[in-house]
Amino acid sequence: MSDPLVLGIETSCDETGIGIVRGTELLAHEVASSVDEHVRFGGIVPEVASRAHLEAFVPTLRRACSRAALNVDDVDAIAVTAGPGLTGSLLVGVAAAKALAIGHDKPLYGVNHLAAHVAADQLEHGRFTEPVVALLVSGGHTELLKVHDIAGQIELLGSTIDDAAGEAFDKVARLLGLPYPGGPHIDRQAHDGDPAAISFPRALTQPKDRQRYRWDFSFSGVKSAVARHVDRQRADGGELPVSDIAASFQDSVCDVLTAKAVDACQAHDVGTLVIAGGVAANGRLREFARERADEAGITLRVPRPGLCTDNGAMVAALGAAVIDGGHAASPPDFGADSALPVSHIVVN
Ligand code: KG4
Ligand code: ZN
Repeated sequence: MSDPLVLGIETSCDETGIGIVRGTELLAHEVASSVDEHVRFGGIVPEVASRAHLEAFVPTLRRACSRAALNVDDVDAIAVTAGPGLTGSLLVGVAAAKALAIGHDKPLYGVNHLAAHVAADQLEHGRFTEPVVALLVSGGHTELLKVHDIAGQIELLGSTIDDAAGEAFDKVARLLGLPYPGGPHIDRQAHDGDPAAISFPRALTQPKDRQRYRWDFSFSGVKSAVARHVDRQRADGGELPVSDIAASFQDSVCDVLTAKAVDACQAHDVGTLVIAGGVAANGRLREFARERADEAGITLRVPRPGLCTDNGAMVAALGAAVIDGGHAASPPDFGADSALPVSHIVVN
C-alpha cells in the first residue's frame, strides 16, 4: 500500500507523542512532555515517566485526531515504538497501541525508535533515496548508520563506546549548574561564549584510532575535562565562565560528530547525510554539518528541531515506510524491548 494513513505512538522516554501521517505527509504531531516533573531529580525517573504517559495518552491522542480531523477508525494502521527505551514507558505505549489496534481492528507495527528518528526527516524533506548515511544523536544513543532501506536494512557503522552525545550535554549542563535536560541550555549559553576559549579533547580522532574506532565516539573524556576545569575555576575562587565552557564543550562534541559523519559518507561513497535525534536540534551541530557537507558536496538533511526530539510523527513515518515496503504487521504478542538494536526495524 503506498501512502498509508498511519497513527504513530511514542512513549520510550519522557515524551508522550502521537502523530498521524499519510505516507510522508505530516497531518498531526502532538507531544506531551513530563520533563518538568523530572527537573528536580536532574534526570528521568522511570516510574514518574510511566505514570505520566498513562495520564497523557488519551488527551494527546484526542488532540492529534482533532488536528488531523479524523478518528482512529479512519487510519490504515497503527505504529508504536517497541524499543529501545525505558521498559516501563515503552510498555504503556505498547499496551495502549494494542488496545487501540484490537478495539478498532487495525494492523499494528512495533517499530524501532532509532530508525524512527531517521525516518522523521522524510516528513520535512520528502522521501530520501537510499543509501544514506545517518548520524543519530540522542540522549541514549550516538550511532553512525548506513541506511540501505529505512524499512528493511540499517547497518551500524559505529557508535559511542561510553556516553551518548545527549548524555554528555546533560552531564556537562549539570556541572555548570544548568537545568535538565541540558542540551538546549548549553546551546543557548554557547551563543554568548567563545568556542576557542578552552581546548577540550576530541576523542578517537587521532590517526592511531582510525583502524579500530574510525566511526566510533567517546564523550566521557570531554565530560571529565569539563569537570576538572570547573573544579579548578572554583578552587581559584573566580566566577565560572559558563558561556565559554559551554561553547568550547559544544564545539568539541559537534566537531567530532560532523567530521566522522562526513568521513563515513565519503568512505562509503554516499551522497546524502541525515542527522537525527534530539541533539540534531543543536545550532552549532547544524552549522558545522552544513559547512562540512557543502565542502564535501554532500546533500545534508536535518529535520526541524521539533521533529528531532522524541515524537509520534516519526514513528508514524517509519510505520508508513514499513507498510509501503510490504512488511508484515507485528504479531499480537510482541513485547517491548529496552535494548532493541537499530538493525531490528520492525518487531516480528
Ligand atoms: O532524541 P531525544 O529527544 O530523546 C532520546 O531518545 O534520548 O534526545 C534527547 C537529548 C537530551 O540529551 C537533550 O539534552 C538533547 O537531546 N538535546 C540537545 C538539544 N535539544 C535536545 N542537545 C544539544 N542541543 C540542543 N539544542
Ligand atoms: Zn529519541
